[in-house]
Amino acid sequence: MSKQVVLVTGGSGGIGKAICMYLQQKGFIVYGTTRKVEKYKDFSDFNLISLDVHNVESIKSAVLSIVKKEGRIDILINNAGIGITGPVEETPEEAIDKVFNTNFKGPLRMIQEVLPVMRSQNSGLIINITSIAGYMGLPFRAFYSASKGALEVVVEGLRMETKQFGVKVVNLAPGDYATNIADSRYTVSASKDSVYKESYQMSLDLMNAHVDSGRNPNEVAKKIFKIIKTKNPKVHYTVGSFMQKFSIFLKKILPNNTFERLLLRHYKL
Ligand SMILES: NC(=O)c1ccc[n+]([C@@H]2O[C@H](COP(=O)([O-])OP(=O)(O)OC[C@H]3O[C@@H](n4cnc5c(N)ncnc54)[C@H](OP(=O)(O)O)[C@@H]3O)[C@@H](O)[C@H]2O)c1
Repeated sequence: MSKQVVLVTGGSGGIGKAICMYLQQKGFIVYGTTRKVEKYKDFSDFNLISLDVHNVESIKSAVLSIVKKEGRIDILINNAGIGITGPVEETPEEAIDKVFNTNFKGPLRMIQEVLPVMRSQNSGLIINITSIAGYMGLPFRAFYSASKGALEVVVEGLRMETKQFGVKVVNLAPGDYATNIADSRYTVSASKDSVYKESYQMSLDLMNAHVDSGRNPNEVAKKIFKIIKTKNPKVHYTVGSFMQKFSIFLKKILPNNTFERLLLRHYKL
């Protein structure tokens, strides 16, 4: 069988880079992406091409260049994403737009450009990197949770539409992994006299500690490889610590108020 062609958005660092390195090593033809391609002139670990998920023209041109060169795209991994923190009451509308533009509309723009290619092949696999945070509204991260949760739900519908064309669509929700996501995060700064100042700061400290002590992103890459090798992949996958994955199960089985109390205790609120 010829080598499969994979496109991974956000291949310059963190989870995306780990996926690209791993799949390249496993014999795939890998295209990772970055918005700052000039920064990576000497980069040679895998193909790194220019792409901004906010910009349809840049998506079209990246997809076209791969199809011209390889003749196909077998797998799309929607990995590019950003974090956002802030009290809901104080989060500016443009910050909400930004996080949805990247985390929700970005993957959908990618899907809309890649689907015609996959339909013409009568085969393809799309994996969206969502988040365990997308399974529950988290305090001071509610918009991040919403952007990832929205994608989880759209994919449930999309998957049934594309089945007839041999295109499989899957979500993979990670827990905490040690990457640079906290540095590029949109952090709403609480106003001087904010009523949320103390509780927000405490939650921020906890979130940063979680990312810093996060697991190795290679674990996500290995899970991706496993999903690729699965004949009939299911719609929702998770990867992370036992407790992070277990929290989804707890939310399903516990009464609402009990689960909320657990979260409040966890975030010391
Ligand atoms: N780290 C975690 O604990 C964790 C947990 C759950 C889910 N996730 C999800 O995993 C994915 C990867 O996160 P990460 O932790 O690896 O973050 P990261 O280290 O900050 O990497 C983010 C990647 O996304 C790219 N990117 C950001 N905005 C983009 C845009 N507008 N267009 C194209 N590419 C863009 C960046 O590329 P350039 O800057 O080079 O363009 C970079 O390669 C995200 O979707 C994140 O939400 C992460």
